[in-house]
Amino acid sequence: MSTIRRTWLPFLNADIPAACDTPIKVAEYELKLGCENLGIKAPALRVDPSMGEGYVLADAAVTGGGTGALYGVYAWLCAKAAGDSLPEGPQKPFWPLRMLDSWDNVDGFVERGYAGRSLWFEGGELRWDGPRIRQLGRMLASAGVNVLSVNNVNVRADAARLIEDKLPDLARLAEAFRPFGVRLMVSIEFSRPLAHGVGTADPLDENVGKWWKERADAVWAAIPDLAGFLVKADSEHRPGPFTYGRSHSEGANMLARAIAPHGGVLVWRAFVYNCRQDWRDTTTDRPKAAYETYAPLDGQFDDNVILQVKNGPFDFQVREPVSPTLYAMPNTRLAVEVQLAQEYTGQQIDIYAMNPMWRELTEALPPERAAAVAAVSNLGRDENYTGHPFAAANLYGYGRWAWDPWVDPRAVLRRWARLTYRLPEAQEDALVELLMNSRAVYEKYTANLGLGWMVNPHDHYGPNPGGYEYDLWGTYHKANRDAVGIDRTANGTGYTLQYPPQIRERYETPEACPDNLKLFFHRLRYDYRMADGRTLIQRLYDDHFEGCAGAEAMAGVLKGLDLPEPDRTEAAQRMEAQIKNAREWRDVLNTFFHRLSGAEDAKGRKIYD
Ligand code: GCU
Repeated sequence: MSTIRRTWLPFLNADIPAACDTPIKVAEYELKLGCENLGIKAPALRVDPSMGEGYVLADAAVTGGGTGALYGVYAWLCAKAAGDSLPEGPQKPFWPLRMLDSWDNVDGFVERGYAGRSLWFEGGELRWDGPRIRQLGRMLASAGVNVLSVNNVNVRADAARLIEDKLPDLARLAEAFRPFGVRLMVSIEFSRPLAHGVGTADPLDENVGKWWKERADAVWAAIPDLAGFLVKADSEHRPGPFTYGRSHSEGANMLARAIAPHGGVLVWRAFVYNCRQDWRDTTTDRPKAAYETYAPLDGQFDDNVILQVKNGPFDFQVREPVSPTLYAMPNTRLAVEVQLAQEYTGQQIDIYAMNPMWRELTEALPPERAAAVAAVSNLGRDENYTGHPFAAANLYGYGRWAWDPWVDPRAVLRRWARLTYRLPEAQEDALVELLMNSRAVYEKYTANLGLGWMVNPHDHYGPNPGGYEYDLWGTYHKANRDAVGIDRTANGTGYTLQYPPQIRERYETPEACPDNLKLFFHRLRYDYRMADGRTLIQRLYDDHFEGCAGAEAMAGVLKGLDLPEPDRTEAAQRMEAQIKNAREWRDVLNTFFHRLSGAEDAKGRKIYD
């Protein structure tokens, strides 16, 4: 039996009736239910279709366009429930496409999923629990997410059938999300015409274009408001235009033209690199790959193509500089892709709140540079949807950031905490600070000074400094007895040359480079003096000790919070695992560097031999 589990909307504690089949009907229902539960007088609900996704709030009336009325109702109820004043003037989202990308496979397994199995796939079929999906629709709409990509970007086996014989089921899922202003998107397989006897998937072959056009016509006939197709091509063994000697603009444009008559967008991922690198090869530098592939194609993509670029040049590490591709393509519609699924950031066991990180992104990359945003989902079938109950703050926070990239991270986390838990003020403050600091703590024990990839290969949880060192993935730190890091400056791999000059200057010398990216950009000796006078090796040791102590301190704070059950138990159990993880990271990394460098810890703390 499905349960309505606590979310940031605890005042909406009943299932939304299936009869609420449009955003306006949901808005009416939610307003009535919310006001009754909060014991306050309901405002009038006015619909002005010209406002689209926007709204205006006043004590006596919520006015908004189609989905905007629903967004307005949630904003009104959340402000009242939190005891905050209403935002003044017209409100509208910054990015028109606020996408959530599920990496769900049709067999029910979620790639990089840390919250259980898929909420809508099982055993090759689309199956879901109506009340849970309505609850999720309510969560997405109240956060402001408006596109949900339903399947993994790695389209394998039966997933390609979602736009073929499984289309009627996909159309029913689209219907389930439609009342919440959430449109579906689907990941497709570039080479699919081959499975249908076309004989090639060459994007310039007439029959290939024809096949995709016919497919698109059938897909949009079944789901007229489908947002578009999402494609991972020529990446990590996925098929793509390179097989036929074609460029990525040729591949993307062919698909874009098939879906353009239906108003669909073709989201093409820029996560392309050599995943069969030889570690002996020092001329290839993985972070350079996306820019090398795409920057020369700027201006060559059709208008309905969106190039989706991961926020950093590697792959969702704890700390990376902003991808240079995002600065390099002014004539291309870009989407920035972030990852809510905590693949490298604690796997929804270790606490890692992301709004502070996204705010840094806004500060580094003018948000106007992007036409859209996408986030890899952290959702799953766990009763609380996100594994760790606090990971819900990242889903909520993503929606708030996608709505307003300048939103204050602390205000978002406070709003989430208040709505979810209603703790006494001092405890709420403590929870907000714990979340605000969680990334810094995690970064210190796992990946300080910009060093990524010291994780266990494949599953990516826990320390393993040698794990990726001689592997194929282009992810090396090259620590030896004297030094660690890669020189990515003009004198090194030349990666910094991909940035505009004013950004490049920040990274080009070790002195100018911020500490938290020092070893991403530079190869430094262990006796290198940091700005604060400490040696590099001492800083490595200190951060690992401090990060672990930070996790232990978080456990103390958590114990003092009167969280409701089952969140209290769930959070406590995960905190035990986080501490174990943090101690392992501290000791493994410290021993690794101690064995290599022979340097003693200036503070004489325990480092194992
Ligand atoms: C990471 C992740 C993969 C995923 C890939 C992607 O490499 O580990 O599971 O498929 O990103 O973004 O496509």
